[in-house]
Amino acid sequence: MAKSDLSKLARLIPSPQAWVGTVLQDFETFLQDHASAEKKASGMALSMASHYPDRLDLVNAMVDLAVEELNHYREVMRILLGRKIVPSADRKDAYVTQMNKQVRKDAEYFLLDRLLVAGIIERRGAERFGLVAEHITDPALKKFYAAITASEERHWQLFVELAWQHCPAEEIQPRFNQLAEYENHLVSTLPVTASLH
Ligand SMILES: [Fe+2]
Ligand SMILES: [Fe+2]
Repeated sequence: MAKSDLSKLARLIPSPQAWVGTVLQDFETFLQDHASAEKKASGMALSMASHYPDRLDLVNAMVDLAVEELNHYREVMRILLGRKIVPSADRKDAYVTQMNKQVRKDAEYFLLDRLLVAGIIERRGAERFGLVAEHITDPALKKFYAAITASEERHWQLFVELAWQHCPAEEIQPRFNQLAEYENHLVSTLPVTASLH
């Protein structure tokens, strides 16, 4: 497979139909969860940067990503605070926990799996923010979620590109597709709530 040929990677199944309606019915809860998710995404990027100090392009990409996710966090917090919504405590995200459990700890697979799991989580995020952008009626929020969608769309591709740069090329597609299959099962079995996952 040619480098960067993202079209050959498995697509994720659509989110359960009830998801976007559940979110729009309790948008306050969704905003609280969204803020937490952006903060955690920024922390994850920083931990990747710290874990691989000698891989300079990866460090550079993760530092930029951490800042971008933190900017998303700030934007969501502004929306929350503008509506006088009290931010919620971070909750354990069963989806992210289960996805992270798929990361094999062996040194030869660890980076590959971390990058691909992160890529799949971002890809699901892009799909879901896209659903919010499509269905929400408030014009300012529609614009905001369309911008977030485009950004998360770039992020999943970034993680796959990094996998191509740092891991054996022949392992990318099979492992991505295996993880995507697991993810598809996961999203179809987890309860639908007014949260990102
Ligand atoms: Fe983000
Ligand atoms: Fe992201």
